[in-house]
Amino acid sequence: MTTRRRFTLTQYLIEQRRRFPSASGDFNALVLDVALACKAIARSVAFGELTGVLGNPLMDVATSVNVQGEDQKRLDVISNEYFTQMTEWGGHLAGMASEEMDEPYQIPETLQRGKYLLVFDPLDGSSNIDVNVTVGSIFSILRAPQEAIDSGRDVVEADFLQPGTEQLAAGYALYGPTTMLVLTVGNGVAGFTLDPNLGQFMLTHPNLAVPEDTQEFAINASNSRFWEAPIKRYVDECLAGKTGPRGKDFNMRWIASMVAEAHRILMRGGVFMYPRDTKDVTKPGRLRLLYEANPVGMIIEQAGGRASTGREPMLKVTPDALHQRIGLVFGSKNEVERIERYHAERPVFEDERNPLFVERSLFRD
Ligand code: F6P
Repeated sequence: MTTRRRFTLTQYLIEQRRRFPSASGDFNALVLDVALACKAIARSVAFGELTGVLGNPLMDVATSVNVQGEDQKRLDVISNEYFTQMTEWGGHLAGMASEEMDEPYQIPETLQRGKYLLVFDPLDGSSNIDVNVTVGSIFSILRAPQEAIDSGRDVVEADFLQPGTEQLAAGYALYGPTTMLVLTVGNGVAGFTLDPNLGQFMLTHPNLAVPEDTQEFAINASNSRFWEAPIKRYVDECLAGKTGPRGKDFNMRWIASMVAEAHRILMRGGVFMYPRDTKDVTKPGRLRLLYEANPVGMIIEQAGGRASTGREPMLKVTPDALHQRIGLVFGSKNEVERIERYHAERPVFEDERNPLFVERSLFRD
């Protein structure tokens, strides 16, 4: 085997910082702290049941007690702790928000507070943990409001409610056959593979680009009866294949781990849909805007793809709550634009498949 000169994540960040000569280095230090949390999570994931950290599907609690009477924490709780513990001490953060915490996380007063906000989903795809399928961590870095930085006050929900266009960086770590970190600092997308011998993320995929066209789509088809008309039309046309209006066959994938689907799409194209549907009217989508849709949206767009709600660009949505859900479509540009066109062409709730909206129904005007 020949050895190849490869850059580490640290070297990549130093190179990127040269674009901003006045940068303090805080940002790079923060990304490296996040990467350290991801390495720790990767180790925990790799040990799996050996360390008793997998979830017990029969127990809806984050902590259980083992036969020795010790606390056993589930992996998603452990992952959340790795993120908070490894990033809070550096002095770079004003505060954090996570899927695992109802409220914003305050940097303890004994520590220095900084200018960035870190938002994360510590373990995405957690329904896959017990079946040993790829899971990952997703994160996004925003700037805290200036007045919060100046005063060093506690962060509040409103500080985080910034559209995805305001993200300074976004990334995910993937705990699969290899551990990878995929990162954008707003200048394209780079992929790093964890070298287990060195414990370092090495730059292996310098310029990730999503192909503009694809013949592969991902959607949870068990929800098809709840889909809105534009999604139903798009999927029907894909399924019709060569003999349908698209004139080509499509392939379908569903890992049920968004971070793994995002990675597949980044590597070879495709389109992912978890759209708004009528399954539960109190939930405008399944995935979370701030720590799932926005970071993945930024990565995909930085790689030349597109991310959308179907109705508008994902990154332009102004969040109204920390844990807001949203319909998400992302991937190869031409397919996402087609789905957006289908949404624009037809009022969404005039769907003849839905009995509530058929001729002579209560809801038809
Ligand atoms: O965070 C939610 C998540 O685990 C995503 O990673 C994944 O795409 C989705 O849920 C799977 O949803 P479903 O259970 O409907 O297939």
